[in-house]
Amino acid sequence: MNPRNVGVIEKADGVGEVGNPVCGDMMTFYIRVDKGRLSEIKFKTFGCGAAIAVSSMVGEMALGKDVEEALRITREDVDERLGGLPSEKMHCSNLGADALRRAIHDYLDRRGNVKEDPVGHSAQGAQDRVLENSLLDDDALVELILEEKRKKDAVILVHNYQRPEIQDIGDFVGDSLGLALKASETDMDVIVFCGVHFMAETAAILNPDRIVLLPEIRAGCPMADMAPVEAVRRAKELHPNAVVVSYVNTTAAVKAESDYCCTSSNAVRVTREVEGEEILFLPDRNLAAYVAKYVPEKRIIPWDGYCHVHQDIAVKDVMEVLENHPGAEIIAHPECTEEVLSIADHVRSTSGMVAAANESSADEFVVATEAGMIYPLKRAVPGKLFYPTGNKPLCPNMKLITLPKVLLALENLEPRVMVPEDVRVRALLPVERMLGFNSN
Ligand code: 13P
Ligand code: SF4
Repeated sequence: MNPRNVGVIEKADGVGEVGNPVCGDMMTFYIRVDKGRLSEIKFKTFGCGAAIAVSSMVGEMALGKDVEEALRITREDVDERLGGLPSEKMHCSNLGADALRRAIHDYLDRRGNVKEDPVGHSAQGAQDRVLENSLLDDDALVELILEEKRKKDAVILVHNYQRPEIQDIGDFVGDSLGLALKASETDMDVIVFCGVHFMAETAAILNPDRIVLLPEIRAGCPMADMAPVEAVRRAKELHPNAVVVSYVNTTAAVKAESDYCCTSSNAVRVTREVEGEEILFLPDRNLAAYVAKYVPEKRIIPWDGYCHVHQDIAVKDVMEVLENHPGAEIIAHPECTEEVLSIADHVRSTSGMVAAANESSADEFVVATEAGMIYPLKRAVPGKLFYPTGNKPLCPNMKLITLPKVLLALENLEPRVMVPEDVRVRALLPVERMLGFNSN
């Protein structure tokens, strides 16, 4: 069969390819992104008239939209715009939405602030298999993942910033504290962690006898890397009387040097309740400043780290959205700067944001955190409206986990996250202490 609708963008910013093994339809989307918006889209379609119509329609719908908006185009949206498809052709709408999403993911991966694979898991064979899997559409991939999950006795834990299709396959979707609690309670053989490296490491600290998989081993947290363990040891020597409270966004080696761990959801409570007047708080200077405000009786020594995603949210990015939605309340993550937090109505962890939106009488919210958070908010609080900040913040590391990589990880039981036993044993106490504190 010859391809139709043929258009190819040389040196495209993103390429997305999908195929349905049953009907043989295939689509390849090429996108160009300019200032966060899809400025050009071309496609190659192998398949029936419906598939050709779908790819044209998806291209039309996505052109000019910003990346986050375009990621939210669903099969239902495509179907509606087409005015319906015969039931046996409905899967074509899904192929179109998937191909577009893949192309955007490819763009985000290329743009990503991604570390080199530290243990060589991205061997060519594995990469080939990821490509092979990525030719299947999402429905087919999900079916294979669920089958493999049953065979391997696995639980899938997913952070709130993960891509929507990853959240949809999660047994549990939540914030760092909720995920660590779930990891501590599971009796499954395998934990598939869809988040970033420190989160999977925390699960491994709690589960020495279980296999912990991180489907993309390069998914790190740049903020966690801002506190290297040698520097933490030196800081402890400089402040011998300080209690070390580490945000969970740290490496296992740093946790092993800490007295307590905390998350964004219980940082204030942990700091207030631990014994000691002087607290070495690491690695987030913004969270440290937020905690210091609520625990004035202690001397907080902040580390100079930050999350680039939250640091880049400026007050003007929030106000820009508020101007169009004057009745909206502002919900911010405590990793944001003091200036942003000072105008927020609610400062909460990612899952705390869901609770705040449920509890508030407001119907609209500007959400100052990673833009992926809009998906779980909409899902959990369907009657209310949520807007990301004007700069549409994305954590490229969080977006590295894809359905093909989850399937590959389950098939191979790799890549695994393992913590050396001497480090794990020392890191366990501060992590267990963290689990004992409720939210602020
Ligand atoms: P939460 O624990 O609030 O989900 O935050 C994790 C994180 O990495 C925020 O950037
Ligand atoms: Fe790390 Fe920031 Fe990404 Fe959270 S959003 S994982 S803190 S880089």
